[in-house]
Amino acid sequence: MQYFENNNNLKSELRKINYNYKDYNFSFYSDLGVFSKDKIDEGSKLLAETYFLNGNKNISVLDVGCGIGFLGITISKIMNCNVDMIDINDRALHLSKMNNKENKTDCNIFKSNIYECINKKYDCIITNPPIRAGKKVYLTIINDSFNHLNENGELWFVMRTNHGVKTVIKNLKEKYQVDVLNKSLGFYVVRVEK
Ligand SMILES: C[S@@+](CC[C@H](N)C(=O)[O-])C[C@H]1O[C@@H](n2cnc3c(N)ncnc32)[C@H](O)[C@@H]1O
Repeated sequence: MQYFENNNNLKSELRKINYNYKDYNFSFYSDLGVFSKDKIDEGSKLLAETYFLNGNKNISVLDVGCGIGFLGITISKIMNCNVDMIDINDRALHLSKMNNKENKTDCNIFKSNIYECINKKYDCIITNPPIRAGKKVYLTIINDSFNHLNENGELWFVMRTNHGVKTVIKNLKEKYQVDVLNKSLGFYVVRVEK
């Protein structure tokens, strides 16, 4: 069973994860069957904290593969963005909705297989893509993002060097302006301008 698959028989062991950034204090419910269930993933943290320093405020953002909602919820609060969040995993969506309430944010959270249910455009798409869902899924999340971005919109993602980020960057550079904004612990934070 992979973290992105739905399994109605999966038992529940709810737990809480705290995350603090400057004066902001967040609390996230997590559970069995979701990505990085016991701690905020280091790659996600690097992506979010790079966005807090270099990203745009007050814009529309889509968090693709939101998991328990870490990226979307923190960006909504700290950057005052208008955030939609999608995932394919029902439990992740349920936890994201709980966490949206818990952290008093106003994110719009719904189920979508990649961009299937997306019918508007955003200023920014942000993702820690699901590598374990396979190349077809994570490359579609990256490459099709440009169909769902406004003109001059930005794709932000994090990926590990050993998951082939350098090849992904090389291919994106054939068409777009690509910047690696941060590197740490084998993770690259990448911004692509449409
Ligand atoms: C690496 S996790 C990132 C979770 C969260 N954004 C974070 O930073 O902690 C990737 C997420 O993508 C979701 N996912 C996998 N396949 C998907 C698909 N086809 N469509 C939408 N989301 C998908 C998984 O359920 C998982 O929650």
